[in-house]
Amino acid sequence: MNERPIGIFDSGVGGMTVVAEIKKYLPYEDLIYLGDTKNFPYGDKSKETIIKLATKCAGFLISQDVKAIVIACGTATSQALDELKRIYRLPIEGIVNPTVQEIAKNAISKKLKIGVIATEGTIKSNKWEKELKQTVKNVEIISKACPLLAPMAEQGWTNNNVAKEAIKEYMKPFINKKIDKIILGCTHYPLFKELIKQEIGNEVEIINTGEKIANYLQSFLQNQKMENNKEHMGECRYYLTDMQCNFIQVAGKLLQDKTLENKIQKVNIE
Ligand code: DGL
Repeated sequence: MNERPIGIFDSGVGGMTVVAEIKKYLPYEDLIYLGDTKNFPYGDKSKETIIKLATKCAGFLISQDVKAIVIACGTATSQALDELKRIYRLPIEGIVNPTVQEIAKNAISKKLKIGVIATEGTIKSNKWEKELKQTVKNVEIISKACPLLAPMAEQGWTNNNVAKEAIKEYMKPFINKKIDKIILGCTHYPLFKELIKQEIGNEVEIINTGEKIANYLQSFLQNQKMENNKEHMGECRYYLTDMQCNFIQVAGKLLQDKTLENKIQKVNIE
């Protein structure tokens, strides 16, 4: 039993898709969310910058006495997870490993064809490709960077005509390619799930990495005897590095929480 909160961070509102899943799997856990809105977007920044920013985010969460950290950001996972694990001693996990492990566990003997969509930085890092090839083995991967999607999600543009056109364009490499699954390798992308489904069809499994990490975290906390067993719903505190953003509207809609505004504080992590 460990009643300390779980720390979660992302560059903005995308990580809230992970929060939504963690709340389902671990309803009694207290959460602390950090959205580094001042430095959004992470997707087009260099690896060096991402490591610096992610180190600051993790440092802030540790100052809040969290028991574990979830990197609810594909870009920071693919470029900074190894470094954060080297610097800090508490359990830290990102979205790649739990997703790849789950795919490997359920893999059948036939060759899997997997699509990966993510930010420019994530695709360039080759992290998904490397991990999938190493762990799932019999796999073919088609990757596509979708740099416009995270900024559109921050604007709340997830179901208008611009979003439809963007998804149509970004899904082109996957159409008629008989892919089995598509990994939403950026945590902002589950906000476009319906449009993606419309474009690539019902036969393709759409993987929400937030769900995979939430499932992983549940088993991890149980195995390590680190869960919070108190019998009342966990609470979540939210911190943003800049309040000049649409976080409240987009996240409030996602979590269906009308009181979200009262739970958000500005923080300086420089
Ligand atoms: N949500 C993030 C990710 O998963 C970051 C998007 C961005 O800041 O560009 O990659």
